[in-house]
Amino acid sequence: MKFNNILSETTKGLTTITINRPSKLNALNKETINELHQAFKIAEEDRATKVIIITGSGEKAFVAGADISEFADFSIAEGKNLAAKGQALLFDFIANLTTPVIAAVNGFALGGGLELAMAAHFRIASDNAKMGLPEVSLGVIPGYGGTQRLPQLIGKGRAMEMIMTAGMIDAKTGHNYGLVNHVTTQEELMEFTQKIASKIMRNSSVAIASAIAAINAGFEDGENGFDAEVTQFGICFGTADFKEGTTAFLEKRRADFPGE
Ligand code: COA
Repeated sequence: MKFNNILSETTKGLTTITINRPSKLNALNKETINELHQAFKIAEEDRATKVIIITGSGEKAFVAGADISEFADFSIAEGKNLAAKGQALLFDFIANLTTPVIAAVNGFALGGGLELAMAAHFRIASDNAKMGLPEVSLGVIPGYGGTQRLPQLIGKGRAMEMIMTAGMIDAKTGHNYGLVNHVTTQEELMEFTQKIASKIMRNSSVAIASAIAAINAGFEDGENGFDAEVTQFGICFGTADFKEGTTAFLEKRRADFPGE
């Protein structure tokens, strides 16, 4: 599929989706959000894709936010619709994918950019990364899940401070806060992220899908994460991957998961 604002390529089970508007610091306009939705959907439905990496093109930015030029004159209803649609189409969509998504944060991750990174299952940053939710400096609040996912990841007090000050934190602080799992140099970011992806790929993709569902359930209103874990644990016992994984262990060989 041909995209105008993103690149998507798949090799050896890994799909890399790159937001490609470097002259606008990869800001998320409507078309980019729609294209990202399509690209993630295609990768999710592609059985060959075991892990997805999301990153930004250029040396400066992951994503510098939602495209401010597109919503500056919106009404209350349009603003509400912007957040609701964006969450459904992209941010919640990514968070609930069965395929693991890693954000490789290669520079500015601001506003919708940090929200995109936080919707991924985990994050790795290069040492030039700068992360923040500056929305209140524009007279608005984060609308793509930022008020929920930031406190989940770094704690309420730190999230309150970051959102209220509209400030940016660097990669080291993001690492201390647990917002990013690892920090690398800019040159090493993709290779390091790919190495983690390849470790994930050795494991059962169906079990990983169950793990994502159980972990996410604990953060959903009205759901009991422990109950979800019991259900997903049970489901694993009916899979060919479970049969292969346990058989391979008992036969002292490496598992070759069929992925079903
Ligand atoms: N929406 C739309 N365009 C954006 C953008 C955004 N969120 N972030 C950057 N851009 C555009 C700039 O308008 C500029 O375009 P131009 O060259 O046509 O004028 C281009 O990207 C480069 O950005 P610039 O501001 O010149 O780079 P800088 O190095 O001076 O500053 C930032 C970098 C990230 C500090 C600055 O771009 C910024 O503050 N961006 C907005 C961040 C934000 O508030 N995001 C939250 C949105 S809800």
